[in-house]
Amino acid sequence: MIKSVTGTKDILPSDIPRWKYLESTVEKIFRYFNYKEIRTPIFEETTLFARGIGEETDIVGKEMYTFKDRSDTSLTLKPEMTAAVVRAYLEHSLGAQQSLVKLYYIAPMFRQERPQAGRFRQFHQFGAEAIGSPSPLLDAEMIQMSYEILKSLGLKNLTIKINSLGTPATRENYKNVLKEFLLDKKDNLSDDSRRRFDTNVLRIFDSKVESDQKLIKDAPKLIDHLDEESKNDFDVVKNQLAKFGIPFTIDSALVRGLDYYTKLTFEIDSGSVGAQTALCGGGRYDLLIENLGGKPTPATGFAAGIERILLACENEKSFSVTDLPIDIYLVRIENELESVVSEIASKLRLENLSVDFDYLQRSVKAQMREANKVNAKYVLFIGGDEYKQGMLKFKNMSTSAEEKISIDSIREFVAKIMQ
Ligand code: HAM
Repeated sequence: MIKSVTGTKDILPSDIPRWKYLESTVEKIFRYFNYKEIRTPIFEETTLFARGIGEETDIVGKEMYTFKDRSDTSLTLKPEMTAAVVRAYLEHSLGAQQSLVKLYYIAPMFRQERPQAGRFRQFHQFGAEAIGSPSPLLDAEMIQMSYEILKSLGLKNLTIKINSLGTPATRENYKNVLKEFLLDKKDNLSDDSRRRFDTNVLRIFDSKVESDQKLIKDAPKLIDHLDEESKNDFDVVKNQLAKFGIPFTIDSALVRGLDYYTKLTFEIDSGSVGAQTALCGGGRYDLLIENLGGKPTPATGFAAGIERILLACENEKSFSVTDLPIDIYLVRIENELESVVSEIASKLRLENLSVDFDYLQRSVKAQMREANKVNAKYVLFIGGDEYKQGMLKFKNMSTSAEEKISIDSIREFVAKIMQ
């Protein structure tokens, strides 16, 4: 039997109510903050991500689904949305119509990582990007929005970590400070970190190797080497979060796995999901638009992993939803009435009601079992003595009350009970 590809997952009808609930919560909160939805293609030219995310990142270096199409163009299934959103922003000159463009998305992403609980090769993100303002108030807004969404889903076990990576000039200075500190320890670093020493020394903070972590523990901190502007902006974010009543910790080692960040970065972790704790992450990326061919434009954003959030919700039992009930289940007493039942169902469906009936010639008892299974609000019996007299029997499934109505008055009756 052919199975789904490793790291991918079917979202079955029984999972859908939870997904829909999450999506509607996300959309509601994005609407409160006046973000507009954007949808971009599943694949893009590979150079967009290579340039946007950074050649040296794990995502570009080892995780992208890249392939050549028949015209020999290198394409990549999108591993994240920020670069794609910026591409669309530039291509359609969205900034010409509005100086601050606030966008949100809910979309599948693709990364060839080692699958484990909460880590997939096709996963889904929701996220937001605000392009056109350097205001740290927008950074605070990103943290507030993501936190409010997670809280609205009932999650409790959350930790917000924030950091500032400063401006590129600050970072260049700091990289030298860090290199100096690590110079005599370089030989003891892991292979990956030794490579990063030359390519992107900041990423050594990302190393999961214990001996690397020990070596880097006492390193000078970027946060203590910030330029004035970054420091002031970081203070504004902190003050604003305090005003919003949002708890946070400063994590000077939070560098994130994408190269486009400047100044603020943040992550929200959950203590309820095992090893993959990051539910969402983001930050400011003031240079990306320029790097992708636009004029200098400051921007900030975040993205959150839906599978991981739903896992946290499940583990915390943070919300429960049931599938929508159907309005009316039609129960056929005699099999010959099959086409009459289908006709009545069709009429009621055109009255905007959800209606179903048995297509398998099952017994009345089996049909009633089905009515219960689909959570029908009402059952309409068609057949028996009543039917011979031009009547039908309605049963309210929650009160068990029954009522007889004439076939001709179904419409009026249904309109009345469904009010
Ligand atoms: P990211 O940290 O790479 O950031 O991903 C954001 C979230 O996506 C993670 O916190 C995690 O919940 C989820 N995620 C990532 N990889 C996987 C995976 N393999 N399986 C399941 N979930 C995953 C970004 O993607 C940036 N574009 C965020 C951003 C937007 N920064 C500025 N604007």
